[in-house]
Amino acid sequence: MIKGVVFDLDGVICFTDKLHYLAWKKAVEPLGVEFNEQINNRLRGVSREQSLEIILEKFNGILSAQEKSAICFEKNEIYKSLLGNLSPADVSEDVMQTLCELKKRGIGLAVGSSSKNTKLILRQIGLSDTFDAVVDGAMITHTKPHPEVFLKAAEAIGVQPNSCLVVEDAEAGIDAGNAGGFITVGIGVAASYAKTHFSICKLSDVLTLI
Ligand code: BG6
Ligand code: MG
Repeated sequence: MIKGVVFDLDGVICFTDKLHYLAWKKAVEPLGVEFNEQINNRLRGVSREQSLEIILEKFNGILSAQEKSAICFEKNEIYKSLLGNLSPADVSEDVMQTLCELKKRGIGLAVGSSSKNTKLILRQIGLSDTFDAVVDGAMITHTKPHPEVFLKAAEAIGVQPNSCLVVEDAEAGIDAGNAGGFITVGIGVAASYAKTHFSICKLSDVLTLI
């Protein structure tokens, strides 16, 4: 019996995944390195610093740790300025109805995100008080595909992983959920990932699994 659901944030609750892409594109432009949607899909779920390392796989030069951290800082500044335009209107009706129905059914709801901007985003989209627990990138030592963020979220809502869904748009997130012993649900890019337990087209399809 399912007692809880841990949602990834970017690309599941709201479409900030697109903003991450735009911010990275602008931040790495001066390097002249190839960056496209395909590479961007590999950044889903992984930390800012690891995202840069993935982008730099296609880069011929060498960057110092200081230069890398300057690029990460710049990317986050661009990203935060894009987040400034986010509002409750950026949460779809489908997402709102799903969260509302799950609450009615007494299911524990949590966010498990690698993003250090999680709380800012939840504020912007008006969902700060919606979840029973929020675990974000600032609260973990290991990023996805390590299961830490989901294990902490499940613990916070008092639910065992084997009676908890993890909803993810990232392959790294599905791997993290599986590693933690959760039932994984893939949406978007992760819906076609072979290791996903259940694939859904829209968030409300989660309701058919409970
Ligand atoms: C994840 C995104 O939610 O958060 C990744 O899918 C991102 O693309 C990661 O790199 C870290 O986000 P932030 O906001 O801390 O840079
Ligand atoms: Mg995501």
